[in-house]
Amino acid sequence: MTYGVSWLQRVAIVGVGLSKFGKSTDMNIKELAFVAVKEALKDAGLTPKDIDFIAVGSFGLWQSEPLPAVAVSEYCGFENAGSIRVEAACASGSAAIYAACNTVASGQAKTAVALGVERMSESLPEIVIEMLGRSGNFFWEFENFGLTFPGYYALYATEYFSKYGATEEDLAEVAVKNHYYGSINPYAQFQKRVTKEEVLSSKYVAWPLKLLDCSPITDGAAAVVIASEDVAKNLTDSPVWIKGMGVATGTSNLSRRKDFTSLESSVRAAKMAYKEAGIDYEKAAKNLDVALVHDCFTIAEILAYEDLGFSRRGEGYILAKEHQTYIGGLIPVNVDGGLKAKGHPIGATGVAMAVEAVKQLRRSADRGRQVDVRNGNALSHNVGGTGHYAYVFVYSIT
Ligand code: COA
Repeated sequence: MTYGVSWLQRVAIVGVGLSKFGKSTDMNIKELAFVAVKEALKDAGLTPKDIDFIAVGSFGLWQSEPLPAVAVSEYCGFENAGSIRVEAACASGSAAIYAACNTVASGQAKTAVALGVERMSESLPEIVIEMLGRSGNFFWEFENFGLTFPGYYALYATEYFSKYGATEEDLAEVAVKNHYYGSINPYAQFQKRVTKEEVLSSKYVAWPLKLLDCSPITDGAAAVVIASEDVAKNLTDSPVWIKGMGVATGTSNLSRRKDFTSLESSVRAAKMAYKEAGIDYEKAAKNLDVALVHDCFTIAEILAYEDLGFSRRGEGYILAKEHQTYIGGLIPVNVDGGLKAKGHPIGATGVAMAVEAVKQLRRSADRGRQVDVRNGNALSHNVGGTGHYAYVFVYSIT
């Protein structure tokens, strides 16, 4: 399927906003959303009344609010906007961007907001962990075997170790990098660096994954304002264009997967997005200035290097070992701290990746986190479930 040629018009991101990620004790989801929306609208130079459509990504199984799109829309004053709530598990935020982009590209709306919001701390951690576990294959994997999310990704890690000889130390490299960048990102949940020794001596959650291999439980919101080409050019001199979108769905049943060292849906989504953006899969790392990838666990970031074409099969862990995914390396990855350190408020994560991609391409990231913008392209990769959903976006300044 080719989307690019059939797009009726180009769409761009013209405003971005983020709430501070972490535990939100004093804000409900409407208030969290408001923080991100207010910042994004201000950035775009628009008011809520200028928005035609809002797509809200929220998994929300732990929240008391059953209709977040309606609640947020009213609270934020989107009086003229149609709304939709979308779900794609941990990729719900990217699904919201996808819905908003298509609504604008089709001509149904001139302006749209894609919002991701999640307040995971509204339920006890054991409830949250159970709800996440149900997002594998409910009957075969959760109900019968009680698999949790760290458990699912531990299966990927053990298979990867046995096939390619990688070790826990290689995974620790990812955690050290992402905590380093989180430590210089004021929006991140964890603003502290960790050493390899600290990662390796942290408690096991599901062998071989330890506490510091895992993304945390997080509250947060992120918003982007999307506009049609004519509106975008009127609003700003620096629109960030959506150059490619890829979406793919994989089986929810691990026993039906052919391979545990790759997420087949990520590969398909990446190839679709690269095709639209005119990027060669094998040369992707050289054509992108920065990538925000789905590191819900450290092993997931290594799988992403391979699935997105940044390294050959079985060599993703070498990129981590050789520090090739720091700024200055082959391709900087998760320079905002990633899910690991910035936090992973499920529905907000994909939108937060887009926020970071835009800041990087505008050269407005915090000191120490700004990448060298040479090609003018950035990528986000967001996975839902254990590879059930995959979304890849290529952003560009041209
Ligand atoms: N990384 C680093 N530190 C973490 C952390 C993480 N992922 N999770 C918790 N911590 C820290 C806390 O800040 C706290 O530190 P403090 O004692 O200095 O305050 C300490 O570890 C204990 O926190 P606690 O909340 O008791 O942790 P926990 O044991 O209840 O939960 C996990 C830890 C890993 C089980 C939980 O974060 C988890 O389930 N993560 C995975 C979430 C997930 O599956 N998301 C979907 C993926 S697609």
